[in-house]
Amino acid sequence: MENILITGGAGFIGSHVVRRFVNEYPNYKIINLDALTYAGNLENLKDVEDKSNYTFVKGNICDTQLIEKLFSDYKIDSVIHLAAESHVDRSIQDPLAFAKTNVLGTLTLLQAAKQAWKNDFSNKLFYHISTDEVYGTLTNEGFFTENTSYDPHSPYSASKASSDHFVRAFHDTYGLPIIISNCSNNYGSYQFPEKLIPLFINNIVNNKPLPIYGKGENVRDWLFVEDHARAIDVIFHKGKIGETYNVGGFNEWKNIDLVKVLIATVDEFLGRQKGSSEKLITFVEDRKGHDYRYAIDSSKLKNELGWEPSLQFEEGIRKTVKWYLENKGWVDHVTSGEYQKYYKEMYEDRT
Ligand code: NAD
Ligand code: TYD
Repeated sequence: MENILITGGAGFIGSHVVRRFVNEYPNYKIINLDALTYAGNLENLKDVEDKSNYTFVKGNICDTQLIEKLFSDYKIDSVIHLAAESHVDRSIQDPLAFAKTNVLGTLTLLQAAKQAWKNDFSNKLFYHISTDEVYGTLTNEGFFTENTSYDPHSPYSASKASSDHFVRAFHDTYGLPIIISNCSNNYGSYQFPEKLIPLFINNIVNNKPLPIYGKGENVRDWLFVEDHARAIDVIFHKGKIGETYNVGGFNEWKNIDLVKVLIATVDEFLGRQKGSSEKLITFVEDRKGHDYRYAIDSSKLKNELGWEPSLQFEEGIRKTVKWYLENKGWVDHVTSGEYQKYYKEMYEDRT
């Protein structure tokens, strides 16, 4: 029996990881700790909430007392740490919130793990989920490898870089058994509609403008979220202590080209005339400090642990669009309340 603390399990990627571990490993006990911020939603996990190997705890990763109690009550053997503030645009508006959760929250968890495991680290693991954005930005050439120097530009990526450094420092200083993985942009079901793909699907459906930052020339490397969850499973079970693994799809898209694929797919599903929603494309002021290109070289993960992405992008996008169209109730629910205010300030008041 292994007791795994998964943080941020009610968020986008976390909910896919929780679902996978609860279903695939009935012998593990999964404890999902999540503060349920605007980005966390228990509706994401309705299908596993009654499983006997699953427990949800509402709480903040910065709450030292709560974290210490969880380690002791549940005899935690390993941590898969996903809880974070995750949206670049929000980090530009409120960087302190990112330092609190991403840096101090991670440090709080590291301290608690070190203390609870009392320096006997056999069969223990602290697995930290990070992003390729810590590496900064690329020109049209090359890829991020595990050896690329850190060069973060946004408050979000700076806070994730800082958390990665603390995780490695706990390994180098105290011998804490850690693994880090840095993944490219994810897409799929249950992603909060502030990120490009779900925001634009929702706007196309509702005939709202599609605010493309700058000229839409920026490039991102997109990975289907269930492939990321599978990579996390593989790394958790087979990864080497102290190592870093890059996770990515070798699937680069210029934003403007990706948006055209989204438009074509949504128009087709809704029976609209092909490309008719292209009129919604609206170029807006560029994001401050906007990284030009992200592209991950995930060959280490493939060569050493045998992981590869399973889905072609076109298939992943069709599955994703279909999911958002079939789950309008979920979208309506998460976009009510506070989100309306964010959307107005972010997009309507600026144009
Ligand atoms: P998300 O914003 O959808 O979910 C984050 C979750 O963390 C939410 O459920 C939220 O309630 C919870 N949370 C936030 N602050 C908390 C706190 N102080 N205490 C406890 N819980 C808290 O994020 P996501 O896109 O699922 O990303 C998950 C992780 O993966 C993050 O660490 C992110 O940096 C990393 N990542 C994301 C992507 C991506 O494309 N989304 C790519 C690479 C890495
Ligand atoms: P996003 O989904 O926020 O992910 P990240 O910034 O972490 O890569 O954005 C993906 C790309 O889409 C990025 O280049 C910014 C751009 N973008 C827009 O052009 N308009 C938008 O409204 C959003 C949210 C993003």
